Amino acid sequence: MSLLIKNGRIITADKDYVADIYCEDETITQIGPDIAPPAGAEVIDAKGKYVFPGFIDPHVHIYLPFMGTYSKDDHASGSRAALVGGTTTYIEMCCPARTEEPGEAFELWNSKAAAGSACDYSFHMGVTRYDESAEKQLRELVAKGLTSFKIFLAYKGAFGVTDDELYNTLKLAKELGVIVTAHCENADLVAAKQAEFVADGKTGPEWHERSRPVAVEAEGVHHFCTFLEATGASGYIVHTSNRPAVENAIRAQKRGVDVKIETVIPYLVIDDTYAQQPDFEGAKYVMSPPVRSKEHQTFLWEALADGRVDTVGTDHAPFDFTGQKDMGHPARGSDFTKIPNGIPSIEDRVNLLYTHGVCEGKISLNQFVACASTNTAKLFGLPGKGTIEVGADADLVVYDPDYRGTLSAKTQQMNVDYSGFEGWEIKGRPSAVTVRGKVQARDGSFVGDQTRGKLLTRPATHF
Ligand code: URP
Ligand code: ZN
Ligand code: ZN
Repeated sequence: MSLLIKNGRIITADKDYVADIYCEDETITQIGPDIAPPAGAEVIDAKGKYVFPGFIDPHVHIYLPFMGTYSKDDHASGSRAALVGGTTTYIEMCCPARTEEPGEAFELWNSKAAAGSACDYSFHMGVTRYDESAEKQLRELVAKGLTSFKIFLAYKGAFGVTDDELYNTLKLAKELGVIVTAHCENADLVAAKQAEFVADGKTGPEWHERSRPVAVEAEGVHHFCTFLEATGASGYIVHTSNRPAVENAIRAQKRGVDVKIETVIPYLVIDDTYAQQPDFEGAKYVMSPPVRSKEHQTFLWEALADGRVDTVGTDHAPFDFTGQKDMGHPARGSDFTKIPNGIPSIEDRVNLLYTHGVCEGKISLNQFVACASTNTAKLFGLPGKGTIEVGADADLVVYDPDYRGTLSAKTQQMNVDYSGFEGWEIKGRPSAVTVRGKVQARDGSFVGDQTRGKLLTRPATHF
């Protein structure tokens, strides 16, 4: 299998040049001007187009038992959606219940991905309980090549850990050289506020944000960073939504704490007015931490542009509007705390970031690649991913900047009955997307091999 991409403008995190790219089997083997098409090679003319490294989503939920229901995508639909939108690798959160064994949970999550992912994948291993048995299993999973843990300060009673468990998880992570990703919101404060609002009859989706205000997340970030400082572990704050939260992490960095910062595409393009829409429409935009006011959005773009924020993921968590989000509908007792949290966006991240970031001059093309691909590959040890160079995996996105179209639930690959971005214009989209040398998507359609995806792990010897 060989593939030649001709005349494209190649953009990496630090380069911008025109050349041809030749791929043999799964790998880029040559980059240069005027590479003559070898016999039998598939040729893609990328004149007038960009060629980006395959984009990497550091934070998705595909299989997720959560809030009394299950997220709607499986790996077949989730990976197709990822690919048509230019994402060639995603890292899924493996989220066992407290009562479940980490080893079995990993086997379950992994079997679901292995059965149907058309793109490459890895996992952040959720630590939702810490005891001797959990520790032993976590050690085994790291020995198999997992490079990150995930902890929740929120969702007490479901995924959330105690401070004691947090401390022990971080100590183990430090010993094993594993980075710990964290959902940072003070669970007790959230629970108290939720109970107060519901008791006062403040039950609509517009109360979701007010039940988990900016300070609740900022406190969670500070708390996590304090524990990182005490253990010397490396951390990564997922889905950071606001200025004080980012600033608390940066303060910790200045004290020498090794912590990185992720934001997710909903926070960059959607503000709290969406969640305040009447007639339960706001439920489409209920996620945690919540979408915030415009000033935080402006801040996040600036922090992305100057490198304070490292990565942009999605936190893809797809729940239908009808039959799932409506668990909190007035017709069913009106309670925003029962609306499954999440906004589907695995398909739209790259195009929205390009349209609202690059086209509006908020980030450069190089920054776009860095925050949506390269930085994640580096942070989570995904060798061969996140760049375009000889020897790298041939994960490539030929991107058409002249494309104009609109997003809609009617045309999306995601298996969910609404789009949070219904009718939004996008300026550009992938015209060809390859996974290790094979074209998997073209012009908005999946055209590839449904089981091409493979689990990415790092050999234990690395540690
Ligand atoms: O609202 C969200 N974020 N849903 C998915 C679960 C999580 O917290 O990441
Ligand atoms: Zn979360
Ligand atoms: Zn998440």
